[in-house]
Amino acid sequence: MQQTPVYTQALSDPVFRIIAKASQNLNVSSYVIGGYVRDYLLERNTSKEMDIDVVVIGSGIELAKEVAKLLPGKPKVSIFKNFGTAMIKSSGWELEFVGARKESYQKDSRKPAVEEGTLKDDQNRRDFTINALALSLSEKDFGSLLDPFNGIEDLNAKLIRTPLDPDITYSDDPLRMLRAIRFATQLNFKIEKESLEAIKRNKNRIKIISKERIVTELNKILLAQKPSIGFALLLKVGLLDYILPELTALQGVDEKDGQRHKDNFWHTLEVVDNIAETTDNLWLRWAALLHDIGKAPTKRFDKDTGWTFHSHEFVGSKMVYKLFKRLRMPLNDKMKLVQKLVLLSSRPIAISNDVTDSAVRRLIFDAGDSIEDLMLLCEADITTKNPRKFRTYHNNFKRVRKKIKEVEERDHVRNFQPPVSGEEIMHFYGIGPSREVGIIKEAIKEAILEGVIPNEKDAAMEFMQTKGAEIGLTPA
Ligand code: CTP
Repeated sequence: MQQTPVYTQALSDPVFRIIAKASQNLNVSSYVIGGYVRDYLLERNTSKEMDIDVVVIGSGIELAKEVAKLLPGKPKVSIFKNFGTAMIKSSGWELEFVGARKESYQKDSRKPAVEEGTLKDDQNRRDFTINALALSLSEKDFGSLLDPFNGIEDLNAKLIRTPLDPDITYSDDPLRMLRAIRFATQLNFKIEKESLEAIKRNKNRIKIISKERIVTELNKILLAQKPSIGFALLLKVGLLDYILPELTALQGVDEKDGQRHKDNFWHTLEVVDNIAETTDNLWLRWAALLHDIGKAPTKRFDKDTGWTFHSHEFVGSKMVYKLFKRLRMPLNDKMKLVQKLVLLSSRPIAISNDVTDSAVRRLIFDAGDSIEDLMLLCEADITTKNPRKFRTYHNNFKRVRKKIKEVEERDHVRNFQPPVSGEEIMHFYGIGPSREVGIIKEAIKEAILEGVIPNEKDAAMEFMQTKGAEIGLTPA
Protein backbone atom coordinates (compact mmCIF):
# COMPACT_ATOMS: atom_id res chain seq x y z
CA MET A 1 0.00 0.00 0.00
CA GLN A 2 1.21 3.47 -0.81
CA GLN A 3 2.24 5.46 2.23
CA THR A 4 0.43 8.71 2.98
CA PRO A 5 2.84 11.61 2.61
CA VAL A 6 3.29 13.70 5.73
CA TYR A 7 4.02 17.42 5.66
CA THR A 8 4.70 18.38 9.27
CA GLN A 9 7.12 21.04 8.00
CA ALA A 10 4.16 22.91 6.46
CA LEU A 11 2.60 23.04 9.92
CA SER A 12 5.64 24.11 11.90
CA ASP A 13 4.10 27.38 13.10
CA PRO A 14 2.75 27.04 16.67
CA VAL A 15 -0.70 28.14 15.47
CA PHE A 16 -1.30 24.71 13.90
CA ARG A 17 -0.57 22.89 17.16
CA ILE A 18 -3.05 25.18 18.88
CA ILE A 19 -5.77 24.35 16.34
CA ALA A 20 -4.92 20.66 16.79
CA LYS A 21 -5.24 21.00 20.56
CA ALA A 22 -8.56 22.81 20.28
CA SER A 23 -9.85 20.09 17.93
CA GLN A 24 -8.78 17.44 20.43
CA ASN A 25 -10.55 19.31 23.24
CA LEU A 26 -13.78 19.26 21.22
CA ASN A 27 -13.14 15.74 19.99
CA VAL A 28 -13.44 16.73 16.32
CA SER A 29 -11.16 16.24 13.29
CA SER A 30 -9.88 19.30 11.49
CA TYR A 31 -7.76 19.94 8.41
CA VAL A 32 -5.89 22.78 6.74
CA ILE A 33 -7.21 22.98 3.19
CA GLY A 34 -7.08 25.11 0.04
CA GLY A 35 -4.69 27.91 -0.86
CA TYR A 36 -2.33 27.49 2.09
CA VAL A 37 -1.59 23.85 1.28
CA ARG A 38 -1.44 24.50 -2.46
CA ASP A 39 0.96 27.42 -2.14
CA TYR A 40 3.14 25.57 0.38
CA LEU A 41 3.53 22.65 -2.02
CA LEU A 42 4.24 25.01 -4.90
CA GLU A 43 6.78 26.86 -2.76
CA ARG A 44 4.91 29.95 -3.76
CA ASN A 45 5.27 33.17 -1.82
CA THR A 46 2.19 35.28 -2.03
CA SER A 47 0.90 38.22 -0.09
CA LYS A 48 -1.95 35.91 0.97
CA GLU A 49 0.33 33.27 2.42
CA MET A 50 -0.93 34.21 5.87
CA ASP A 51 -4.46 32.98 5.10
CA ILE A 52 -5.29 29.60 6.55
CA ASP A 53 -8.53 27.79 5.74
CA VAL A 54 -9.49 25.16 8.29
CA VAL A 55 -12.25 22.65 7.66
CA VAL A 56 -13.69 20.74 10.60
CA ILE A 57 -15.92 17.72 10.74
CA GLY A 58 -18.34 19.52 13.02
CA SER A 59 -18.97 23.19 13.74
CA GLY A 60 -16.48 25.72 12.39
CA ILE A 61 -17.83 28.34 14.77
CA GLU A 62 -17.36 26.16 17.88
CA LEU A 63 -13.82 25.24 16.86
CA ALA A 64 -12.96 28.89 16.23
CA LYS A 65 -14.17 29.79 19.74
CA GLU A 66 -12.04 27.03 21.27
CA VAL A 67 -8.98 28.08 19.24
CA ALA A 68 -9.40 31.69 20.35
CA LYS A 69 -9.35 30.57 24.01
CA LEU A 70 -5.97 28.92 23.48
CA LEU A 71 -4.36 31.64 21.40
CA PRO A 72 -2.15 34.25 23.11
CA GLY A 73 -4.19 37.38 23.88
CA LYS A 74 -7.49 35.53 23.33
CA PRO A 75 -8.33 37.27 20.01
CA LYS A 76 -11.84 38.13 18.91
CA VAL A 77 -13.81 35.64 16.82
CA SER A 78 -15.80 37.10 13.91
CA ILE A 79 -18.81 34.91 13.28
CA PHE A 80 -20.68 34.72 9.98
CA LYS A 81 -23.72 32.84 11.10
CA ASN A 82 -25.39 32.69 7.69
CA PHE A 83 -22.40 30.90 6.21
CA GLY A 84 -21.57 28.88 9.33
CA THR A 85 -18.02 30.24 9.25
CA ALA A 86 -15.81 32.08 11.72
CA MET A 87 -12.61 34.07 11.40
CA ILE A 88 -9.80 34.93 13.78
CA LYS A 89 -6.91 37.31 13.23
CA SER A 90 -3.87 36.39 15.24
CA SER A 91 -0.15 37.25 14.91
CA GLY A 92 -0.46 38.09 11.22
CA TRP A 93 -2.54 35.01 10.40
CA GLU A 94 -6.07 35.13 9.14
CA LEU A 95 -7.69 31.89 10.25
CA GLU A 96 -10.93 30.89 8.57
CA PHE A 97 -12.99 28.05 10.06
CA VAL A 98 -15.74 26.18 8.28
CA GLY A 99 -17.66 22.99 9.01
CA ALA A 100 -17.32 20.27 6.35
CA ARG A 101 -20.30 20.50 4.03
CA LYS A 102 -22.13 18.56 1.48
CA GLU A 103 -23.59 21.26 -0.64
CA SER A 104 -25.94 21.70 -3.44
CA TYR A 105 -26.32 25.09 -4.99
CA GLN A 106 -29.57 26.57 -6.14
CA LYS A 107 -29.77 27.36 -9.82
CA ASP A 108 -30.04 31.15 -9.72
CA SER A 109 -27.80 32.03 -6.88
CA ARG A 110 -24.38 31.38 -5.52
CA LYS A 111 -25.85 30.82 -2.07
CA PRO A 112 -25.70 27.13 -1.33
CA ALA A 113 -28.11 25.01 0.66
CA VAL A 114 -25.83 23.69 3.37
CA GLU A 115 -25.79 20.22 4.83
CA GLU A 116 -23.16 18.73 7.13
CA GLY A 117 -20.75 16.32 5.49
CA THR A 118 -17.52 14.35 5.67
CA LEU A 119 -14.10 15.63 4.67
CA LYS A 120 -14.49 13.85 1.34
CA ASP A 121 -17.85 15.58 0.76
CA ASP A 122 -16.20 18.88 1.49
CA GLN A 123 -13.29 18.22 -0.85
CA ASN A 124 -15.75 17.17 -3.52
CA ARG A 125 -17.51 20.50 -3.53
CA ARG A 126 -14.34 22.53 -3.86
CA ASP A 127 -13.32 24.14 -7.12
CA PHE A 128 -10.11 22.42 -8.19
CA THR A 129 -8.16 19.33 -7.22
CA ILE A 130 -5.17 21.51 -6.34
CA ASN A 131 -7.40 23.47 -3.95
CA ALA A 132 -8.86 20.36 -2.34
CA LEU A 133 -5.58 19.18 -0.82
CA ALA A 134 -5.92 18.85 2.95
CA LEU A 135 -3.40 18.36 5.77
CA SER A 136 -4.61 16.69 8.95
CA LEU A 137 -4.51 18.58 12.22
CA SER A 138 -5.35 15.53 14.34
CA GLU A 139 -2.77 14.36 16.89
CA LYS A 140 -2.75 10.83 15.47
CA ASP A 141 -1.80 11.75 11.88
CA PHE A 142 -0.66 15.38 12.19
CA GLY A 143 0.49 16.70 8.78
CA SER A 144 -0.81 13.77 6.70
CA LEU A 145 -2.00 14.70 3.24
CA LEU A 146 -5.54 13.81 2.25
CA ASP A 147 -5.75 13.94 -1.49
CA PRO A 148 -8.63 11.87 -2.85
CA PHE A 149 -8.53 13.47 -6.33
CA ASN A 150 -4.81 13.26 -7.05
CA GLY A 151 -4.33 16.97 -6.61
CA ILE A 152 -0.61 16.38 -6.13
CA GLU A 153 -0.39 14.81 -9.57
CA ASP A 154 -2.19 17.79 -11.07
CA LEU A 155 0.10 20.14 -9.18
CA ASN A 156 3.11 18.41 -10.71
CA ALA A 157 1.50 18.23 -14.15
CA LYS A 158 0.54 21.93 -13.82
CA LEU A 159 -3.08 21.17 -14.46
CA ILE A 160 -6.33 22.85 -13.37
CA ARG A 161 -8.95 20.11 -12.95
CA THR A 162 -12.22 19.96 -11.03
CA PRO A 163 -12.87 17.20 -8.47
CA LEU A 164 -16.36 16.56 -9.87
CA ASP A 165 -17.70 16.60 -13.40
CA PRO A 166 -16.69 20.13 -14.49
CA ASP A 167 -20.22 20.92 -15.66
CA ILE A 168 -21.38 20.48 -12.08
CA THR A 169 -18.49 22.36 -10.47
CA TYR A 170 -18.82 25.38 -12.79
CA SER A 171 -22.56 25.46 -12.87
CA ASP A 172 -22.64 25.24 -9.04
CA ASP A 173 -20.52 28.36 -8.81
CA PRO A 174 -19.83 30.10 -12.13
CA LEU A 175 -17.19 32.34 -10.55
CA ARG A 176 -14.99 29.25 -10.70
CA MET A 177 -14.72 29.64 -14.47
CA LEU A 178 -12.87 32.87 -13.87
CA ARG A 179 -10.93 31.35 -11.00
CA ALA A 180 -9.75 28.56 -13.32
CA ILE A 181 -8.44 31.12 -15.78
CA ARG A 182 -6.98 33.23 -13.01
CA PHE A 183 -5.08 30.28 -11.50
CA ALA A 184 -3.93 29.19 -14.97
CA THR A 185 -2.50 32.69 -15.41
CA GLN A 186 -0.96 33.11 -11.96
CA LEU A 187 0.54 29.63 -11.79
CA ASN A 188 1.18 29.17 -15.50
CA PHE A 189 -0.94 25.99 -15.45
CA LYS A 190 -3.04 24.47 -18.22
CA ILE A 191 -6.80 24.04 -17.83
CA GLU A 192 -7.72 20.44 -18.50
CA LYS A 193 -9.54 19.97 -21.80
CA GLU A 194 -12.82 18.73 -20.30
CA SER A 195 -12.82 21.71 -17.98
CA LEU A 196 -12.19 24.15 -20.81
CA GLU A 197 -15.08 22.68 -22.77
CA ALA A 198 -17.34 22.91 -19.71
CA ILE A 199 -16.44 26.58 -19.29
CA LYS A 200 -17.44 27.20 -22.91
CA ARG A 201 -20.77 25.49 -22.28
CA ASN A 202 -21.45 27.33 -19.02
CA LYS A 203 -20.10 30.75 -19.95
CA ASN A 204 -23.43 32.57 -19.87
CA ARG A 205 -23.87 31.56 -16.21
CA ILE A 206 -21.28 34.24 -15.43
CA LYS A 207 -24.24 36.65 -15.50
CA ILE A 208 -25.26 35.65 -11.97
CA ILE A 209 -21.87 36.66 -10.58
CA SER A 210 -21.51 40.12 -9.10
CA LYS A 211 -19.38 42.63 -10.97
CA GLU A 212 -17.18 43.12 -7.90
CA ARG A 213 -16.17 39.45 -7.84
CA ILE A 214 -15.52 39.46 -11.56
CA VAL A 215 -13.29 42.50 -11.21
CA THR A 216 -11.38 40.89 -8.32
CA GLU A 217 -10.46 38.04 -10.65
CA LEU A 218 -9.65 40.38 -13.55
CA ASN A 219 -7.36 42.35 -11.27
CA LYS A 220 -5.56 39.18 -10.23
CA ILE A 221 -5.11 38.21 -13.87
CA LEU A 222 -3.79 41.68 -14.65
CA LEU A 223 -1.36 41.53 -11.74
CA ALA A 224 0.08 38.19 -12.84
CA GLN A 225 3.49 37.98 -14.44
CA LYS A 226 2.05 37.36 -17.90
CA PRO A 227 -1.54 38.65 -18.00
CA SER A 228 -1.98 37.75 -21.69
CA ILE A 229 -2.38 34.09 -20.71
CA GLY A 230 -5.61 34.97 -18.93
CA PHE A 231 -7.03 37.30 -21.54
CA ALA A 232 -6.27 34.84 -24.35
CA LEU A 233 -8.12 32.16 -22.36
CA LEU A 234 -11.04 34.47 -21.64
CA LEU A 235 -11.32 35.07 -25.37
CA LYS A 236 -10.98 31.39 -26.23
CA VAL A 237 -13.80 30.26 -23.94
CA GLY A 238 -16.08 33.15 -24.89
CA LEU A 239 -16.15 34.85 -21.48
CA LEU A 240 -14.39 38.01 -22.61
CA ASP A 241 -17.36 39.01 -24.70
CA TYR A 242 -19.53 39.05 -21.57
CA ILE A 243 -17.04 40.89 -19.45
CA LEU A 244 -15.06 43.22 -21.69
CA PRO A 245 -16.72 43.42 -25.12
CA GLU A 246 -14.63 46.54 -25.79
CA LEU A 247 -11.63 44.24 -26.08
CA THR A 248 -13.14 41.54 -28.26
CA ALA A 249 -14.21 44.33 -30.64
CA LEU A 250 -10.51 44.98 -31.27
CA GLN A 251 -9.97 41.58 -32.88
CA GLY A 252 -9.26 41.07 -36.51
CA VAL A 253 -7.33 42.52 -39.38
CA ASP A 254 -9.17 44.27 -42.19
CA GLU A 255 -7.80 44.53 -45.66
CA LYS A 256 -8.86 47.04 -48.30
CA ASP A 257 -7.03 48.09 -51.46
CA GLY A 258 -4.11 45.98 -50.30
CA GLN A 259 -3.85 47.92 -47.03
CA ARG A 260 -4.04 46.15 -43.69
CA HIS A 261 -4.00 47.33 -40.09
CA LYS A 262 -2.62 45.36 -37.17
CA ASP A 263 -4.83 43.15 -34.98
CA ASN A 264 -5.36 45.50 -32.08
CA PHE A 265 -6.51 42.79 -29.69
CA TRP A 266 -3.29 40.79 -29.83
CA HIS A 267 -1.29 43.99 -29.92
CA THR A 268 -3.04 45.06 -26.70
CA LEU A 269 -2.13 41.82 -24.98
CA GLU A 270 1.50 42.30 -25.94
CA VAL A 271 1.41 45.81 -24.50
CA VAL A 272 -0.04 44.50 -21.23
CA ASP A 273 2.69 41.86 -20.97
CA ASN A 274 5.31 44.48 -21.73
CA ILE A 275 4.09 46.86 -19.06
CA ALA A 276 3.84 43.98 -16.58
CA GLU A 277 7.62 43.69 -16.92
CA THR A 278 8.17 47.24 -15.78
CA THR A 279 5.45 47.94 -13.20
CA ASP A 280 3.19 46.25 -10.65
CA ASN A 281 0.85 49.23 -10.65
CA LEU A 282 -2.59 47.75 -11.32
CA TRP A 283 -3.95 50.96 -12.85
CA LEU A 284 -1.10 51.28 -15.29
CA ARG A 285 -1.83 47.73 -16.32
CA TRP A 286 -5.50 48.64 -16.79
CA ALA A 287 -4.40 51.61 -18.89
CA ALA A 288 -2.34 49.28 -21.08
CA LEU A 289 -5.34 46.94 -21.44
CA LEU A 290 -7.65 49.77 -22.44
CA HIS A 291 -5.28 52.08 -24.33
CA ASP A 292 -6.64 51.16 -27.76
CA ILE A 293 -10.33 50.50 -27.02
CA GLY A 294 -11.28 53.63 -28.92
CA LYS A 295 -9.95 52.05 -32.09
CA ALA A 296 -12.94 49.82 -32.73
CA PRO A 297 -15.56 52.59 -32.94
CA THR A 298 -13.27 55.01 -34.80
CA LYS A 299 -11.92 52.70 -37.49
CA ARG A 300 -12.32 54.13 -41.01
CA PHE A 301 -10.78 53.51 -44.39
CA ASP A 302 -9.59 56.49 -46.34
CA LYS A 303 -8.44 55.85 -49.87
CA ASP A 304 -5.56 58.33 -49.57
CA THR A 305 -4.30 57.56 -46.09
CA GLY A 306 -5.49 53.97 -45.59
CA TRP A 307 -6.84 52.77 -42.24
CA THR A 308 -7.34 55.52 -39.68
CA PHE A 309 -8.50 55.66 -36.08
CA HIS A 310 -9.03 59.40 -35.71
CA SER A 311 -9.50 60.59 -32.11
CA HIS A 312 -9.42 57.05 -30.81
CA GLU A 313 -7.57 58.27 -27.72
CA PHE A 314 -10.34 60.75 -26.89
CA VAL A 315 -13.13 58.26 -27.65
CA GLY A 316 -11.24 55.57 -25.69
CA SER A 317 -10.86 57.77 -22.62
CA LYS A 318 -14.64 58.38 -22.63
CA MET A 319 -15.21 54.62 -22.92
CA VAL A 320 -13.02 54.07 -19.84
CA TYR A 321 -15.57 55.86 -17.69
CA LYS A 322 -18.48 53.79 -19.03
CA LEU A 323 -16.55 50.57 -18.62
CA PHE A 324 -15.52 51.34 -15.04
CA LYS A 325 -19.12 52.28 -14.24
CA ARG A 326 -20.52 49.12 -15.78
CA LEU A 327 -18.09 46.93 -13.86
CA ARG A 328 -18.71 48.91 -10.66
CA MET A 329 -15.06 49.83 -10.45
CA PRO A 330 -14.00 52.92 -8.51
CA LEU A 331 -14.84 56.15 -10.31
CA ASN A 332 -12.07 57.95 -8.47
CA ASP A 333 -8.56 59.23 -9.14
CA LYS A 334 -7.50 55.73 -10.30
CA MET A 335 -10.10 55.86 -13.06
CA LYS A 336 -8.98 59.38 -13.90
CA LEU A 337 -5.39 58.17 -14.21
CA VAL A 338 -6.45 55.43 -16.62
CA GLN A 339 -8.48 57.95 -18.62
CA LYS A 340 -5.62 60.39 -18.76
CA LEU A 341 -3.13 57.77 -19.89
CA VAL A 342 -5.51 56.54 -22.61
CA LEU A 343 -6.15 60.12 -23.74
CA LEU A 344 -2.44 60.96 -23.94
CA SER A 345 -1.26 57.55 -25.13
CA SER A 346 -0.22 58.72 -28.60
CA ARG A 347 1.33 62.03 -27.62
CA PRO A 348 4.89 60.95 -26.84
CA ILE A 349 5.16 58.99 -30.08
CA ALA A 350 3.76 61.93 -32.03
CA ILE A 351 6.50 64.24 -30.78
CA SER A 352 9.32 61.72 -30.60
CA ASN A 353 10.55 62.28 -34.14
CA ASP A 354 11.15 65.94 -33.67
CA VAL A 355 11.35 66.71 -29.97
CA THR A 356 10.87 70.44 -29.52
CA ASP A 357 10.94 72.21 -26.16
CA SER A 358 7.42 73.55 -26.58
CA ALA A 359 5.92 70.16 -27.46
CA VAL A 360 7.56 68.65 -24.39
CA ARG A 361 6.41 71.52 -22.19
CA ARG A 362 2.84 70.92 -23.36
CA LEU A 363 3.17 67.21 -22.75
CA ILE A 364 4.40 67.78 -19.19
CA PHE A 365 1.66 70.34 -18.64
CA ASP A 366 -1.05 67.90 -19.76
CA ALA A 367 0.36 64.77 -18.10
CA GLY A 368 1.35 66.43 -14.82
CA ASP A 369 2.54 63.88 -12.29
CA SER A 370 1.56 61.03 -14.62
CA ILE A 371 4.34 61.81 -17.09
CA GLU A 372 6.52 58.89 -15.97
CA ASP A 373 3.56 56.47 -16.15
CA LEU A 374 2.75 57.76 -19.61
CA MET A 375 6.29 57.15 -20.81
CA LEU A 376 6.17 53.60 -19.44
CA LEU A 377 2.91 52.97 -21.30
CA CYS A 378 4.30 54.34 -24.55
CA GLU A 379 7.44 52.26 -24.30
CA ALA A 380 5.32 49.17 -23.65
CA ASP A 381 3.27 50.11 -26.72
CA ILE A 382 6.24 49.39 -29.01
CA THR A 383 5.46 45.90 -30.26
CA THR A 384 7.04 46.03 -33.72
CA LYS A 385 8.83 42.84 -34.72
CA ASN A 386 11.22 44.82 -36.92
CA PRO A 387 14.41 45.15 -34.84
CA ARG A 388 15.52 48.31 -36.64
CA LYS A 389 12.21 50.06 -35.98
CA PHE A 390 12.18 48.74 -32.42
CA ARG A 391 15.55 50.35 -31.75
CA THR A 392 14.62 53.59 -33.45
CA TYR A 393 11.39 54.00 -31.45
CA HIS A 394 13.14 53.25 -28.17
CA ASN A 395 15.92 55.67 -28.99
CA ASN A 396 13.36 58.34 -29.85
CA PHE A 397 11.72 57.83 -26.47
CA LYS A 398 15.10 58.11 -24.78
CA ARG A 399 15.42 61.51 -26.42
CA VAL A 400 11.93 62.47 -25.23
CA ARG A 401 12.82 61.41 -21.68
CA LYS A 402 16.04 63.42 -21.78
CA LYS A 403 14.18 66.46 -23.03
CA ILE A 404 11.50 66.04 -20.35
CA LYS A 405 14.22 66.13 -17.71
CA GLU A 406 15.85 69.24 -19.17
CA VAL A 407 12.57 71.12 -19.59
CA GLU A 408 11.40 70.09 -16.13
CA GLU A 409 14.55 71.36 -14.49
CA ARG A 410 14.34 74.63 -16.33
CA ASP A 411 10.65 75.46 -16.71
CA HIS A 412 8.79 73.75 -13.84
CA VAL A 413 5.55 73.26 -15.74
CA ARG A 414 4.61 69.90 -14.23
CA ASN A 415 2.12 71.31 -11.76
CA PHE A 416 1.68 74.57 -13.53
CA GLN A 417 0.48 77.47 -11.40
CA PRO A 418 0.01 80.72 -13.35
CA PRO A 419 2.80 83.12 -12.27
CA VAL A 420 0.25 85.95 -12.39
CA SER A 421 -3.12 85.21 -10.79
CA GLY A 422 -6.54 86.44 -11.88
CA GLU A 423 -6.67 88.57 -8.73
CA GLU A 424 -3.43 90.28 -9.68
CA ILE A 425 -4.66 90.99 -13.20
CA MET A 426 -7.90 92.51 -11.86
CA HIS A 427 -6.01 94.59 -9.33
CA PHE A 428 -3.51 95.88 -11.92
CA TYR A 429 -6.21 97.04 -14.32
CA GLY A 430 -8.78 97.93 -11.70
CA ILE A 431 -11.38 95.62 -13.27
CA GLY A 432 -13.71 92.93 -11.95
CA PRO A 433 -14.05 89.33 -13.07
CA SER A 434 -14.46 89.46 -16.83
CA ARG A 435 -13.68 87.86 -20.17
CA GLU A 436 -10.53 90.02 -20.44
CA VAL A 437 -9.04 88.45 -17.33
CA GLY A 438 -9.50 85.00 -18.89
CA ILE A 439 -7.95 86.11 -22.18
CA ILE A 440 -4.86 87.44 -20.44
CA LYS A 441 -4.43 84.40 -18.22
CA GLU A 442 -4.72 82.07 -21.20
CA ALA A 443 -2.28 84.18 -23.23
CA ILE A 444 0.30 84.02 -20.41
CA LYS A 445 -0.05 80.25 -20.13
CA GLU A 446 0.30 79.85 -23.91
CA ALA A 447 3.36 82.11 -24.00
CA ILE A 448 5.04 80.02 -21.29
CA LEU A 449 4.21 76.71 -22.94
CA GLU A 450 5.39 78.01 -26.31
CA GLY A 451 8.61 79.26 -24.73
CA VAL A 452 7.95 82.91 -25.65
CA ILE A 453 8.56 83.86 -22.02
CA PRO A 454 10.05 81.94 -19.09
CA ASN A 455 7.78 80.62 -16.32
CA GLU A 456 8.59 83.57 -14.06
CA LYS A 457 6.64 86.39 -12.43
CA ASP A 458 8.49 89.41 -13.86
CA ALA A 459 8.39 88.12 -17.41
CA ALA A 460 4.71 87.26 -17.05
CA MET A 461 3.85 90.74 -15.68
CA GLU A 462 5.62 92.37 -18.61
CA PHE A 463 3.85 90.07 -21.07
CA MET A 464 0.53 90.83 -19.37
CA GLN A 465 1.00 94.54 -20.06
CA THR A 466 1.72 94.00 -23.75
CA LYS A 467 -1.28 91.72 -24.06
CA GLY A 468 -3.48 94.08 -22.00
CA ALA A 469 -2.61 97.02 -24.28
CA GLU A 470 -3.50 94.88 -27.30
CA ILE A 471 -7.00 94.32 -26.05
CA GLY A 472 -7.48 97.90 -24.95
CA LEU A 473 -6.88 97.68 -21.21
CA THR A 474 -5.16 100.48 -19.33
CA PRO A 475 -3.50 100.08 -15.93
CA ALA A 476 -5.48 101.40 -12.95
N1 CTP B 1 -13.21 27.71 -3.09
C1 CTP B 1 -14.07 27.07 -3.96
N2 CTP B 1 -14.82 27.78 -4.85
C2 CTP B 1 -14.75 29.13 -4.86
C3 CTP B 1 -13.91 29.82 -3.98
C4 CTP B 1 -13.14 29.07 -3.10
O1 CTP B 1 -14.13 25.85 -3.96
N3 CTP B 1 -15.50 29.82 -5.71
C5 CTP B 1 -12.43 26.94 -2.12
C6 CTP B 1 -11.11 26.42 -2.65
O2 CTP B 1 -10.85 25.18 -2.02
C7 CTP B 1 -10.12 27.47 -2.19
C8 CTP B 1 -10.67 27.85 -0.83
O3 CTP B 1 -12.09 27.74 -1.01
O4 CTP B 1 -8.82 26.95 -2.10
C9 CTP B 1 -10.30 29.21 -0.36
O5 CTP B 1 -10.71 30.18 -1.26
P1 CTP B 1 -9.93 31.54 -1.54
O6 CTP B 1 -9.36 32.06 -0.28
O7 CTP B 1 -10.82 32.42 -2.37
O8 CTP B 1 -8.79 31.09 -2.54
P2 CTP B 1 -7.39 30.44 -2.33
O9 CTP B 1 -7.41 29.07 -2.91
O10 CTP B 1 -6.95 30.60 -0.94
O11 CTP B 1 -6.49 31.24 -3.36
P3 CTP B 1 -6.18 32.81 -3.41
O12 CTP B 1 -5.74 33.16 -2.07
O13 CTP B 1 -5.12 32.94 -4.44
O14 CTP B 1 -7.46 33.46 -3.86
